[in-house]
Amino acid sequence: MKAAQFSEYGEPDVLRVAEAPEPHAGAGQIRVTVHAIGVNPWEWKVRSGAMRAFLPLEFPSIPGGEVAGVVDEIGDGITGVSVGDEVFGFTTTGAYAEYAVLAVNQFAHKPPALPWPEAAALPTAAETAYRALDELGVAEGQTVLVNGAAGGVGLAAAQLARLRGTTVIGTASEPNHDFLRSLGVTPVNYGDGLVERVRKIAPSGVDRALDVAGRGGLPDLIELSHGTDNVITIADPEAQKYGVRFSSGRSKDPSPALDQVARLIEQDTFTLPVAETFPLERAADAHRISQTGHIRGKLILLPT
Ligand SMILES: NC(=O)c1ccc[n+]([C@@H]2O[C@H](COP(=O)([O-])OP(=O)(O)OC[C@H]3O[C@@H](n4cnc5c(N)ncnc54)[C@H](OP(=O)(O)O)[C@@H]3O)[C@@H](O)[C@H]2O)c1
Repeated sequence: MKAAQFSEYGEPDVLRVAEAPEPHAGAGQIRVTVHAIGVNPWEWKVRSGAMRAFLPLEFPSIPGGEVAGVVDEIGDGITGVSVGDEVFGFTTTGAYAEYAVLAVNQFAHKPPALPWPEAAALPTAAETAYRALDELGVAEGQTVLVNGAAGGVGLAAAQLARLRGTTVIGTASEPNHDFLRSLGVTPVNYGDGLVERVRKIAPSGVDRALDVAGRGGLPDLIELSHGTDNVITIADPEAQKYGVRFSSGRSKDPSPALDQVARLIEQDTFTLPVAETFPLERAADAHRISQTGHIRGKLILLPT
């Protein structure tokens, strides 16, 4: 099969399309013909070599963890899904490819009307947002600050927090403010002066703060939410220094989160926009753009 892969750490252009062995579904797994692939910042962090101490790779390595596609193989012990079903979810065989294997509990059925790119945008954003909001104890009546609200995880977290009956303030640059307003999120600019800007909207601060951006800002979030207990980051490497919890590691069974977000999409109460799609051959360009850190929603690769 065709796969975008790399054989050395480095800049985006180490990522090239080449032939790779097709994966097949073993027991407790399905295989899909991939129709769309979600791009996540983690993938360029790994490709650059920055994660090699925690995650040494075997080369060649096919990046990526989330896909949407059509089931074409079913392993022993799998029920509730048939060849030809349209699904989206997490793969362990490398997503930047024509075929991918997904284990039981790692996928859900795609809403029939949802286009492939929009479906591939969902798994990481939805699973991470549900997990972080649960760990933070986000509940009805609270005011929640999402730092980095216009990206993949941020948009998911902001909308899911709203659906829990909270008031959501979200940080983003000016061009994303109207979009956040359209989702019922009150936008503020990130950066210097954040505490004062948020206090103009919420004079006594916020009940919970979720840092999705991981680009500084934790001291402001701690101040606004009255202590470290009410703050979680999913991205700031300085979490420990500030005594803030770092949420990482996918839950063992993400399928309820995937099912739930599929229902919300069918009810038209959740949206995760695709910022741009690229053919698999342009995976390096997708990484270059992801590395700028200013995407509204998700970047998507298309294998054909
Ligand atoms: N721990 C976990 O389980 C987990 C899971 C998924 C992702 N992550 C990490 O979480 C981070 C976000 O992931 P993502 O997929 O949401 O990324 P993303 O889509 O690339 O995020 C882009 C967004 O970040 C915003 N942004 C850029 N600089 C910012 C700043 N200084 N303050 C606030 N917002 C800023 C941008 O807003 P503007 O365009 O308006 O500037 C843009 O909308 C990444 O570091 C990723 O690796 C962690």
